[in-house]
Amino acid sequence: MMNIILMGLPGAGKGTQADQIKVNYPIPHISTGDMFRAAIKNETPLGKEAKSYIDKGQLVPDSVTIGLVEERLNQEDAKEGFLLDGFPRTVEQAEALDQILAKTNRKIDKVLNIDVDPAILLPRLTGRRICKQCGTTYHLIFNPTKVEGVCDKDGGELYQRSDDNEETVANRLEVNIKQTKPLLDFYSQKEDVVENINGDQDIKVVFKDVQNILDKLK
Ligand code: AP5
Ligand code: ZN
Repeated sequence: MMNIILMGLPGAGKGTQADQIKVNYPIPHISTGDMFRAAIKNETPLGKEAKSYIDKGQLVPDSVTIGLVEERLNQEDAKEGFLLDGFPRTVEQAEALDQILAKTNRKIDKVLNIDVDPAILLPRLTGRRICKQCGTTYHLIFNPTKVEGVCDKDGGELYQRSDDNEETVANRLEVNIKQTKPLLDFYSQKEDVVENINGDQDIKVVFKDVQNILDKLK
């Protein structure tokens, strides 16, 4: 089975690797950050609540987040495998996830931990640009488009996330660094689950490392 968690600090490259994983492996990409941003765009009650936390760089409360993920994981397309990106982020969320999966006799097969020195993450996040049409992630310096401001795939206009300013990024990093060690300890207690990947390599090289792990699960 391919029940996978992509873990890593903000800017570690979770979304970038997920973009490639979902075209190479038949599992849906489930990103809580993307789900919240879609709700914000649609101005739903969930979106309004999430926005107040996201704009400050804080975590959205578990009471909101866990139910959202449970609903998504019980949809048909996730029954044969999934790629969770940005969830769980706390031990409480990890415990809740185990319980959700146990109800349908599922478990986590691998946690891919994209490891990077936090010192390199500020420029990665402030330089990030995303396509309005297809959601592909670029970077002004590290992964530029062929034509400035325009998506290589569909010519869509690029935008910057509202939480990618310096102040919010600093908060996001602080909040997430605090959660990382207990979360990794939680999964390290499970045998043969955590795989550490060096995220400070070229994007393509990181994906090779990801493939080496996922191909063994097929
Ligand atoms: P979310 O959207 O998940 O944001 P995040 O965790 O802060 O992670 P990012 O999406 O910023 O980083 P990434 O690792 O995907 O990096 P990317 O690949 O884009 O969450 C947003 C907010 O929602 C949270 O702050 C929180 O408020 C809320 N939330 C979400 N989940 C939650 C949960 N479970 N509980 C509570 N609240 C939750 O790469 C970044 C940039 O670097 C890009 O420009 C990319 O091109 C570039 N890049 C990528 N890889 C490389 C590389 N190897 N070398 C050079 N550049 C690279
Ligand atoms: Zn595009």
